[in-house]
Amino acid sequence: MSNRTFTMIKPDAMKNGHAGAIIDRIIKEGYRVVALKQTKLSAEKAGEFYAVHKERPFYGELVEFMSSGVIIAAILEKDNAVASFRELIGATNPAQAAEGTIRKLYATSLGENAVHGSDSDENAKIEGAFFFSGLEQF
Ligand code: RTP
Ligand code: MG
Repeated sequence: MSNRTFTMIKPDAMKNGHAGAIIDRIIKEGYRVVALKQTKLSAEKAGEFYAVHKERPFYGELVEFMSSGVIIAAILEKDNAVASFRELIGATNPAQAAEGTIRKLYATSLGENAVHGSDSDENAKIEGAFFFSGLEQF
């Protein structure tokens, strides 16, 4: 069990002005910020990040959405970070997300669901390194 996860605040939440509230919630839930930055994914980079979904019918839409505006990327630290953060963000489809979760509060739809959270320790490491060099992690 690792104590780090990776997250992105997705373009819908950025455009809808929820970034501040989401970061505030994450910190209040006890996560330590290891690295954080605002950036924008090209379609190519978004495709690479979500390559695991390449064969899925929503892949094109996902790549288009994730490259449609700025995002905030961050590495977070807390005990059992991957699982606890997935619980904090809620189900992929905000309609099915539990009350009080970040997706329930701030997501727009299944496709535009406000935040990303790593699904395993291995992917948390890969995804963190996709955005941040060792010198940017504290
Ligand atoms: P994420 O990777 O972004 O944290 O989301 P997740 O694990 O909860 O869901 P995943 O299955 O990994 O799907 C990645 C993202 O693809 C979009 N999606 N669209 N239209 C659809 O049927 C559909 N299904 C998934 C969502 O943005 C989802 O977060
Ligand atoms: Mg996922």
